[in-house]
Amino acid sequence: APSDPDLVERARAAKAKLGDKVFVLGHHYQRDEVIEFADVTGDSFKLARDAAARPDAEYIVFCGVHFMAESADILTGDDQQVILPDLAAGCSMADMATAEQVAECWDVLTEAGIAEQVVPVSYMNSSADIKAFTGKHGGTICTSSNAKRALDWAFEQGAKVLFLPDQHLGRNTAVRDMGMSLDDCVVYNPHKPNGGLTAEQLRDAKMILWRGHCSVHGRFSLDSVDDVRARIPGVNVLVHPECKHEVVAAADHVGSTEHIIRTLEDAPAGSKWAIGTELNLVRRLANRFADQDKEIVFLDRTVCFCSTMNRIDLPHLVWALESLAAGKVVNRIEVDKETESFAKLALERMLALP
Ligand code: 13P
Ligand code: SF4
Repeated sequence: APSDPDLVERARAAKAKLGDKVFVLGHHYQRDEVIEFADVTGDSFKLARDAAARPDAEYIVFCGVHFMAESADILTGDDQQVILPDLAAGCSMADMATAEQVAECWDVLTEAGIAEQVVPVSYMNSSADIKAFTGKHGGTICTSSNAKRALDWAFEQGAKVLFLPDQHLGRNTAVRDMGMSLDDCVVYNPHKPNGGLTAEQLRDAKMILWRGHCSVHGRFSLDSVDDVRARIPGVNVLVHPECKHEVVAAADHVGSTEHIIRTLEDAPAGSKWAIGTELNLVRRLANRFADQDKEIVFLDRTVCFCSTMNRIDLPHLVWALESLAAGKVVNRIEVDKETESFAKLALERMLALP
């Protein structure tokens, strides 16, 4: 549905009043009505860099989810304030690894006598606490666009990796991009004693994968791939690496949101694509390329939006911008100093990856 013209006008007016004081970042999974007001759009890697690249902006309004706003706060200056227009915009995957659970896991690895060989690699989609744990234990953050480089780096530092919290990105990168076998990976289940693993299994594993997943991407199935291939002959299947391993193995191409966009930009006219990632982005791409004769469909018609990404809508954005324009800071995301210093270490290791 088209946006309420009154709200559009109010967002424009508040943004104009704030001028250079405000910088609005929009993740690719955001609604069209929000993307319209983003000064920059990107995947989580690009947005982390872009937030850090605007030291002049007093307010960073982050249209995305909580962990992204935390990362922006960690990477921006102390006098910059990061605003998340709806505090309920979390990420179910990030919530699957808590600081207590990860500390307990480290104790298990220590008990098994392997902690010294383990380098933590945490996906951007994790809380600031998990990023701090990662920094403290010599590890790095990664995103879906640099996971291979992060793992290459980690295996130069140690013989094993603890990959948090997305088991699928960890497994897909290890097996698809680095030539490891499925047997090199074990899954640590935080809800079971010792992660549900024996000390021997831990000693044999190269990749210890945290048992987390994305509730949106985890729903694409091998059936979705088979169905779309039957329905659209010649279709190219392009999926995000948060999808299950069997889906990624059956796909033609795999990549982050930025990679998906670039691939479609470069695709020849007449080509057909089935995309396995969040629906807001897929719809936007389908519309954008419709007049270039590129057929773009959603990989599985039963998978829905990321409900927490969708919480940031135009009314929330207008409220945040108007509050700031009136001199009132709302929904500020602020990571405490101790957590920030270790989390920053891990994020900076990522930003320094070759
Ligand atoms: P990217 O934009 O880094 O591909 O991340 C996908 C995602 O799920 C963010 O929540
Ligand atoms: Fe989290 Fe998945 Fe939503 Fe991304 S798409 S914010 S990983 S639940």
